[in-house]
Amino acid sequence: MTTTTNKLTQHRYYLSEEELPKRWYNLAVDLPYDIEPHLHPKEDRVAEEADFDWLWPTECLKIELLKGHYATDSWIDVPEPVLAAYARFRPSPLVRARGLEEYLDTPHRIFYKREDLNPGGSHKFNTALAQAYYAAQDGVETLVTDTGAGQWGTALALACATFGLKLKVFMVRKSFDEKPYRRNLMRMLGAEVISSPSTMTSTGRGVLERDPNSPGSLGIGMAEAVELVRTDPTHRLALGCMSYYAALHQTVIGLETQAQLAQAGVSADVLVGCVGGGSNFTGFVAPFVTGDDVPLCIAAEPSSVPTLTKGEFRYDWADYERQTPRIPMYTLGSDFVPPPIHSGGLRYHGKTPILSSLVKNGLVTPRSFDQQDVFEAGRLFLRTEGVLPAPESSHAILAAIKEVRNTPAGDRPKNIAICLSGHGYLDLQGYADVLDLG
Ligand SMILES: Cc1ncc(COP(=O)(O)O)c(C=O)c1O
Repeated sequence: MTTTTNKLTQHRYYLSEEELPKRWYNLAVDLPYDIEPHLHPKEDRVAEEADFDWLWPTECLKIELLKGHYATDSWIDVPEPVLAAYARFRPSPLVRARGLEEYLDTPHRIFYKREDLNPGGSHKFNTALAQAYYAAQDGVETLVTDTGAGQWGTALALACATFGLKLKVFMVRKSFDEKPYRRNLMRMLGAEVISSPSTMTSTGRGVLERDPNSPGSLGIGMAEAVELVRTDPTHRLALGCMSYYAALHQTVIGLETQAQLAQAGVSADVLVGCVGGGSNFTGFVAPFVTGDDVPLCIAAEPSSVPTLTKGEFRYDWADYERQTPRIPMYTLGSDFVPPPIHSGGLRYHGKTPILSSLVKNGLVTPRSFDQQDVFEAGRLFLRTEGVLPAPESSHAILAAIKEVRNTPAGDRPKNIAICLSGHGYLDLQGYADVLDLG
């Protein structure tokens, strides 16, 4: 790959407000293979819009099923009100990790894209705004969702406040109990936050009957959200990670990164991100995977939720109760309840079909990491860069560190970009527990 050094003395790379991407990149259209369609949850046929018009805001449903111009156009305009809301916090800087480079004593260049600088503290805001906007356009009164660590719920609560919607959030019990700050932030923003599994739905009651101590999971939370939407026509579902539409909206991350690396005068050799449902990673790598010279794209997941590294590629449901379409993806099974690790946003059994297809076709390399090592990497990043990553993002940091360490000495310096999907300042208890801070 071509590399020049003209702008490499800079620490941070900024884009102006005018350079904020005005279109999302619809990767599915440009891939050299077809993505298999979603199937009806129970019947042996392709899922149609009419099957799910009660569940999703219209535009989200069309994106999800690749209908209309989503089936043909590589670029999708960001609606003006969403763009205006993005502009309050974007474009976000790309930062050269000089402190980490120095610590690692490496000639390789490490960059990180800061998705932690909006009030929600993570990339989730990029899709939350779009989903709330589309729901408001449809006249929806209330959005319903599930959240793990609470970043998604917080981002959506902020987006619902922006576009005048009510919000109900099923928060995975393990995080609900351990992360009171995010719970309270969502409530301050006007959201109703319910611990999942809950007694509000038959799904939740069933899980609690079988296991009163169930820590919950994103699959269970999603099943509760879907059940609630089914009972009230003024409600619709919002999904932060698993959907194609969430991944589409996250392409602003990759598009900005591409422009910022060009500003630095380098091209990416390695791109690294963490994967829960797969949205931040897919949005980050999307503009890079259809060119001639595809970088090494590393998807980092927890070894206790090894969906991409050990899961099976097949049709599966996105939720625990099998109400969503069946989707072609890597999965550990929709009834898999992940162990209660501290990276709440990565405790999900499946990966979005677009990412699953990239892995299946060899364009993305999955790797898995143990919690202790991940949290040590988060601590190292705090000490060397002065930023505390979300535990989820620390998976990506560890993957990048390992890539640096495993590259033979004497190799040409590589340009490695990490997606810092969120900050960890509200996850300090998790860090304290795992790192035994006393
Ligand atoms: C900070 C952060 N990073 C990553 C993820 C994983 O989600 P996804 O893989 O959809 O980006 C989450 C999910 O909650 C998150 O909060």
